[in-house]
Amino acid sequence: MLTAKLSIQNKVYHLQSLITDQKEISSGYFRLIFSAPQIAQIAQPGQFVHIYCGEGTYLRRPFSIAKVKKNQVEIIYKVVGKGTELLSRKKKGNTLDVLGPLGNGFTQSLNHPITQSPILIAGGTGVASLLFLAQKLITLYTSHLTPLTVFLGAKTKNDLLCIDNFKKLGCQVKLATEDGSLGYKGLVTDLFRNSLITHNSSLITNIYACGPYAMLKEIAKITQKYKIPYQVSLEAMMACGLGACRGCVVKTSHQSLTTSHQHFVYKTVCKDGPVFEANQIIWE
Ligand SMILES: Cc1cc2nc3c(=O)[nH]c(=O)nc-3n(C[C@H](O)[C@H](O)[C@H](O)COP(=O)(O)OP(=O)(O)OC[C@H]3O[C@@H](n4cnc5c(N)ncnc54)[C@H](O)[C@@H]3O)c2cc1C
Ligand code: FES
Repeated sequence: MLTAKLSIQNKVYHLQSLITDQKEISSGYFRLIFSAPQIAQIAQPGQFVHIYCGEGTYLRRPFSIAKVKKNQVEIIYKVVGKGTELLSRKKKGNTLDVLGPLGNGFTQSLNHPITQSPILIAGGTGVASLLFLAQKLITLYTSHLTPLTVFLGAKTKNDLLCIDNFKKLGCQVKLATEDGSLGYKGLVTDLFRNSLITHNSSLITNIYACGPYAMLKEIAKITQKYKIPYQVSLEAMMACGLGACRGCVVKTSHQSLTTSHQHFVYKTVCKDGPVFEANQIIWE
C-alpha cells in the first residue's frame, strides 16, 4: 500500500510574523491568523507552531496549525491561562514571535478503493489539527464515493468549533455535547461507537483523532476491537518544543530485535509526535 508521510519537511523557522486577523469565534475561543510564508509553504496537518505569548510567559506555547492559505497560517485556541490570555489581547498589525512548523504530522494512505474513507474525531480544541487534515484529505479523496465523516465532541454547544468549516469542505459532520445542547447528548466516543453498529467498519480506512487523552484512549480500545488503523495527535506540557529537554515524553511500546521482548521507550511528543500510531502508545 502506498503511504505518504504528510510531514516530509523538517525545516524550522523562527519568525517575527505580522498578525493579519484575530477574532473571538465562540466565547473564550479565538482564531488567530498571521503571515508566515516559510511556515505556510511546508506545514503539514498535525504539525504545530510554538508561540511566545508575551511578557511573563517564559516558555513558548504550542498550537496546532488549523489552516494555511497562501502566506497565512491560522490557529484556533481556547483561553485557559496566562499565555493564551495574553495572546487573545493581540491585535491585527501586532507582531508574533513564532517557531515552526514543528513535530511530525499525520500519515496518509493514498490508494484506497473509492468506497472507503477515513474518519476524523475531534474533542474540544483538537478540532484545529483535524480541520487542516480534512482540507488535505478532501483533495486526495475527491474521487471517493463516501464523504469524509467528522465527529466533533465538546462539553457544550459553545465549545463545538468549526462545524461550518467542515460542512463547507463537504464533510459529513456528527456532533456530540456532554450537556446535550447540540447533537447527541453524551460523549463523542459513545456516538462514534454507536455509529460502528450501523456502519460497516471494514469501509473505514483510518481513524484520525485529536483531543483529550481520555477520549483518545477510549477510541484506541474501539479501534483495536474493530482492527481499524488509528493515528492520534497527542498533547503534553511542553518547554523547548524541539526534542531537547525531554519534558514532554510519552511511553511507547518497542519490540527488541535481538530478544523479541516487548519493552517500552519514551518518545517526545514535540519531535517524535505529536502524531503517533495509536498502537505504539502505552495508554495509562
Ligand atoms: C502539540 C500541541 C498542540 C496544541 N494545539 C492547541 C490548539 O490548537 N488550540 C488550543 O487551544 N490549545 C492547543 N494546545 C494546548 C495549548 O498549548 C495550551 O492550552 C496552552 O499552552 C496553555 O497556555 P496558557 O499559558 O494559557 O495556560 P497555562 O497557564 O500554561 O495552563 C493553564 C491550564 O492549561 C493546562 N495546560 C497547559 N498546557 C497544556 C497542554 N499542552 N496540554 C494540556 N493541558 C495544558 C495547564 O495544566 C493548566 O491547567 C496544544 C498543545 C500541544 C502540546
Ligand atoms: S518540549 Fe522539550 S523535548 Fe518536547
